[in-house]
This record gives sequence, structure tokens and C-alpha cells, in this order.
Amino acid sequence: MKTIVINGANGYVAANFINELLLEDFKIIALVRAGKIPAQERMINMLSDLNDGKEFKSDKLKVYDYSLVDENFSIAEEQLNEIFGSDVDYFHFAASLKYDFKAKDEIFQTNLDGVQNSMRVFSKFASKKSRFFFISTAYSSGIMEGKFEEKFYDNADISMFRNYYEQSKRFAENLIRKQIEEEGLNGHILRLSQVVGNNKTGVTKTDYGIFDFARRIQSMANRHPYRKVRVKVNPETTQNLIPIDTVVSYLMQVVKISEIPVIMNVVAKQGIRNGFILSCLSELVPISLLSLPELEVSEMDSYERIISIGMSFTASYTDTNMNFDTTKLDEVMQLEANEASEESIRKMLEYFLDKASDKKARIAS
Ligand SMILES: NC(=O)c1ccc[n+]([C@@H]2O[C@H](COP(=O)([O-])OP(=O)(O)OC[C@H]3O[C@@H](n4cnc5c(N)ncnc54)[C@H](OP(=O)(O)O)[C@@H]3O)[C@@H](O)[C@H]2O)c1
Repeated sequence: MKTIVINGANGYVAANFINELLLEDFKIIALVRAGKIPAQERMINMLSDLNDGKEFKSDKLKVYDYSLVDENFSIAEEQLNEIFGSDVDYFHFAASLKYDFKAKDEIFQTNLDGVQNSMRVFSKFASKKSRFFFISTAYSSGIMEGKFEEKFYDNADISMFRNYYEQSKRFAENLIRKQIEEEGLNGHILRLSQVVGNNKTGVTKTDYGIFDFARRIQSMANRHPYRKVRVKVNPETTQNLIPIDTVVSYLMQVVKISEIPVIMNVVAKQGIRNGFILSCLSELVPISLLSLPELEVSEMDSYERIISIGMSFTASYTDTNMNFDTTKLDEVMQLEANEASEESIRKMLEYFLDKASDKKARIAS
């Protein structure tokens, strides 16, 4: 069975992918940076959490501590020769998902220097047949009219993006393009939209995007219940939400198919209306959310301002109906449809908010 090498392996999407790879008996090399907790323990804790503490197969998993931007990842050459000893599929997941303008340096160091270094290590140690997969975002589209196609777009000024995260991913894609064109890198780009929980079970172990917003609303509702809060959101525009189990199914196909297009937009076919998300939250927590797209900060009361500040990231995605081309994705991937629906998103929000309250109760007791 093929060896799959994954960096940023303890992250949400990567760990869910690894969980499935282990079930299917793939050999996995996980690159995880150590924090206060050693790399191996961080990876096992993450997998254990995904499996709700139940036992899971880990005999084919090998974890290495690494440093993304250091020469040879700060891993001994002997070990790197071992890691890349056969034709491998290498997945670059590591990224800073910060979006605040103050974090620009960290975002660029991780999302650009990190990718450049990753390609350097890959090119030095991996065989010619090995494949390099860069996990990008569908929002590397930036602010644009029309369809975002599965092709490279030139670098652009920050004014063409909602934040530095988006811009850094566009720049990183073009680093890969250069390496493909000039050095013959066997490189591929998989652009994900907003990844949510499990579509079938509702289990949601991410606090990204709409869940971050949900948590802020819940926290306000707990402190100031039964208020009416107006939010500057267009109820008719949509969020492109792709369930984690759908993403994992796509990734599993990627490792099994030999001819993969250079770029694929791994996104949902249909968006979920912002109006639905707000009404769902109004049902799940004691707060009444009213969408008012034209609401100005000067007209907001103090509660509305707190929510508005907390939406500094989400807000830029609440007035768009993004249009992503999926021709190439559809050409090579044969998957049973597993799209998020209003019903499944409600289930995910319910799970997420229940868990968040349990956690709060545990901390308080
Ligand atoms: N989640 C989404 O909705 C979404 C949507 C589109 C694209 N993506 C892309 O999918 C990938 C995974 O996202 P995710 O949601 O799984 O994110 P995540 O849970 O935050 O995982 C990010 C991973 O990157 C690692 N990382 C961050 N900075 C690093 C650094 N300086 N050096 C080494 N490792 C570093 C993190 O390690 P630590 O734990 O040590 O920080 C973690 O393992 C990212 O490339 C992201 O851009 C995600």
C-alpha cells in the first residue's frame, strides 16, 4: 500500500483524512510540530478525540516532529530518506488560518515560506513519481465577479482579497505553478471551501467559520438572554459549506486515482442561505437574530457592536454568492452525493452548541 506523507497532520481536516487512511491500511507519515506536548502525543490525542476516546488502528502511523520553515524540516537526512523512500503522495496541509491584518507576518511566513520550504524538501528527497498536493482554499479567488475556474490566477494586490489569508494562498499557488513549470514538480492544488462537520452524524469538531460565529452568539445569549440582536448580514446570500466526510471521500479518491488534474475546486454545489443559519441559531439559543444588510455601525446598540466586532472575519463572507467551477473535479471524482443540507447544518450547529455548553459547564464545576 502506498505511503502518504502529511504535514500539519494534527489539524482538523488532515486528522480526519488520516483516520480514514488508517482504516484502509495506508502507511502514513505524519509531520506534527511539538508544542508543550510532544508531536506523537498531539497526533494521538487528536485521533483519539475524533474517535470519541475509542480504540483506533495506529500500527501504520509514524509521527515525526518537524519545523515547517527550517532546512530539511529539522529532520535528519537519514530519516528523510526513509520517509521518502518509496513513491509517496505528499499532502501539504499546514497553514495559518488567521485573518486579522495584524497577523500578516505569521500568515505569510507559514503560508508562503512554509510552502516554499515544503517543496524544497520534497524536491530534494522524493522520487520523480511522487506527487505533491497543496491544500488551498476556494477563497484564494479573492473578491471577483463570475466563476472561479480550476486554473491559476495571477498574484494580485491585497485590495483584491478579503484578508491576507486569501492572498497568501493565491501567492502559494503561484509558487507551486512556478515549480511545476520550471522544475517539473508533480504538483496539484486542491481548493477547499468552508469545511464543516459530518453530514451524516452531525458530529462537528471544528470551530471555524459559521461555528465560530455560533459560539459568539451563544456566549452573548448566555450572558444576556432573550434579546433581539440585528446583524449586518444579507439573508439571501449563501455560505459554501462542505462536510468533512465529503472532503475525506474526495481525498481518498485522490490517493487512489493516478491522473489528477493540476487544480480542483473541492466545494459544495449548493450554498446554504445565511438567513437559514441565523434563524437556526435563533431557535437553538435564547436570542433573536434579525438580518439587516444595510445596518451601519453608528446605528448599532452595544450588543450589536460586540457581535459585529466578533464578525470581523465572517462579515466579509456574508454578502457574497460565490460561483466555483467544478468541471475538473466532476470529471475525475465519482462520489455519491453528500451535500450539506439545511437539515444537516442544523444538526451540526446543535451538536456544536451542545458540546460548547458541556465544556463550559465542566469548566464551571
Ligand atoms: N477548515 C476549513 O474550512 C478550510 C477551508 C479551506 C481551506 N482549508 C485549508 O485546509 C488546511 C487545513 O485546515 P484546518 O481547518 O484543518 O486547519 P487547522 O485545524 O488549524 O490545522 C492547521 C494545521 O497547520 C499547522 N500549522 C500552523 N502553523 C504552522 C507552522 N508555523 N508550522 C507548522 N505547522 C503549522 C497546525 O499545527 P499546530 O496545531 O501546531 O498549530 C495544524 O496542524 C489548511 O491549509 C487550510 O488553509 C481549510
